[in-house]
Amino acid sequence: MKIAFVTLLLASTAWALRKAPTAPAASVVVKNLAYDSPIINHPYLAIKRKPVPAGLVSSKVATDVQFLHGVASGDPLADAVIIWTKVTSAAPEVPVTYQLSTTNNFTSIVSTGTVTTTADVDYTVKIDVTGLQPATTYYYRFTSGDFAMSAAGKTHTIPVATADLASYRLAVVSCSNLPAGYFNAYAGIGKRDDIDIVLHLGDYIYEYQNGKYGDGTSMGRIPQPNVELSTLSDYRTRHAQYKTDVDLQAAHLAHPWVTVWDDHEFADDSWIGGAEGTKPGLPGPWEPRKLAAMRAYFEYMPIRAALIDGVGKIYRNFAVGNLFDLTMLDTRMSGREKTDVTDSSIINAPNRTIMGFPQEKWFNDQLSTSKSRGAKWRIVGNQVTFAPARVLWGAILILKDSWDDYPAARTRVLDYVSSNKIDNVVFLTGDIHTSLTFNVPRNPFSGYDKSTGGGSLLVEFVGPSVTSQSITAAGAWALKAALPHLQFANGSKHGYMVVTITQEKVSTQYVLVDAIDHRGAPESVEKTLETLSGSARITSSSDGPCIDTPGPRYTLK
Ligand SMILES: *[C@@H]1O[C@H](CO)[C@@H](O)[C@H](O)[C@H]1NC(C)=O
Ligand SMILES: *[C@@H]1O[C@H](CO)[C@@H](O)[C@H](O)[C@H]1NC(C)=O
Ligand SMILES: *[C@@H]1O[C@H](CO)[C@@H](O)[C@H](O)[C@H]1NC(C)=O
Ligand SMILES: [Fe+2]
Repeated sequence: MKIAFVTLLLASTAWALRKAPTAPAASVVVKNLAYDSPIINHPYLAIKRKPVPAGLVSSKVATDVQFLHGVASGDPLADAVIIWTKVTSAAPEVPVTYQLSTTNNFTSIVSTGTVTTTADVDYTVKIDVTGLQPATTYYYRFTSGDFAMSAAGKTHTIPVATADLASYRLAVVSCSNLPAGYFNAYAGIGKRDDIDIVLHLGDYIYEYQNGKYGDGTSMGRIPQPNVELSTLSDYRTRHAQYKTDVDLQAAHLAHPWVTVWDDHEFADDSWIGGAEGTKPGLPGPWEPRKLAAMRAYFEYMPIRAALIDGVGKIYRNFAVGNLFDLTMLDTRMSGREKTDVTDSSIINAPNRTIMGFPQEKWFNDQLSTSKSRGAKWRIVGNQVTFAPARVLWGAILILKDSWDDYPAARTRVLDYVSSNKIDNVVFLTGDIHTSLTFNVPRNPFSGYDKSTGGGSLLVEFVGPSVTSQSITAAGAWALKAALPHLQFANGSKHGYMVVTITQEKVSTQYVLVDAIDHRGAPESVEKTLETLSGSARITSSSDGPCIDTPGPRYTLK
């Protein structure tokens, strides 16, 4: 597995040797955003903030550069997109030039520039390429010196907010645990050419040592370093290892991603002030651990950097034509109060918050802005299950660590949606490793009509995991038996969701893979569920793929 991979890389390096172009003479120095993640006020992280040098950097050429971690793009806007890579080199300072083109043979380069990367940012490279055309496909690659060249990635910009957009398609993933199995879901997404954006709802990495949660011994997928992560070096090493997975690389190469973190980018069941309550043995102290994890995330993910002093704000919105707003929440690190609380007076406190009050206000304003600008849908990228789903299975709470632990916060969202007549709200959710579709009423046991879905205010699609252990078929069955508003549950398989948004409806396919214990297992559409515009509930459900989903990628009217 590993050997084959190295061979592949050597082959691509050889190709680069033959075809490497000389970097354009007037390549300008641009900013490496990886340096923007740092923690200026936290000297205990011992990172020297290295400024991007003034003037051209072409005098310093590293001759041993390799691109072993793939390329990635993300956070597409109508005129800009983030591109990412990482170099491997013994040189203290490595100049890296990017090229962005409208053709995959790079005959017409529309943007190019050079950055420097160093050990201070673990040799990562992150550039916000601006001045681009809306709704346009671009190819991008990186070079260093005369010989090293990365693979070429494909990305695209979103349509302008006023564009009359007929359809758009998201692939939605979460919970990719390397030792638990092969990333066949990513392989499937990497092969598709009918996806506009890949949404990762968190648990992109897991923080555990091998055997703690998934054992990768038989597959040679041992987490590196093989400890529970706590230092900056730990988190970086783990992120770098994930970025060597060939299936993950393929999915990044093929599409722009929009990502948010959940708990395992930090530690299990984390919140702003800690993780898993006061669990003994947690590597601590929490604050530097959290900041190290945040910093590694910003260095390694194709996300626009946020200054992580303060809260590391990653909640943000993408206005995609007149069709929808994609509103990404952070229910984990922005203002979430303590998780794993059993005291009901704390859980039911009227001011309890999962997003923090600044984000709550921002979310409300965003919903109203989206509605008043005439966007048809409000698609919300969310980490933990929003719908009420508190079900005891024997003595075990099936879904924990969800919005059920923050009921007043959920009520405030539903109140806002209902009193401001915000229609067409669709939550997309990760975290729980199980395919679930909900109508979301205030209370499924009072004032909700199971036969018509009456009383539902919005719908929620919870996706399967890429590999993390699901709640099992029996757990899904127990949820189904207990919850009248649950429309679909599959707790036995891994995979991803394909969410097709049109002016008429949002249609979600649950694409499940047969197995994760070997690479290349086939995938199939288990179920397609739809919500018609204006309905605020699931309006149809069919086995297999739905016949009338629109064709490839976005269509402008
Ligand atoms: C490069 O690709 C474009 C678009 O596919 C094509 O029109 C052009 O002929 C290609 N040029 C070369 C030199 O291959
Ligand atoms: C909620 O109210 C309690 C009691 O007034 C207070 O101690 C606590 O700090 C408040 N929490 C938040 C998040 O405002
Ligand atoms: C879940 O999906 C798998 C794969 O298609 C199928 O074999 C299984 O029967 C489904 N289970 C439930 C409970 O729907
Ligand atoms: Fe997870």
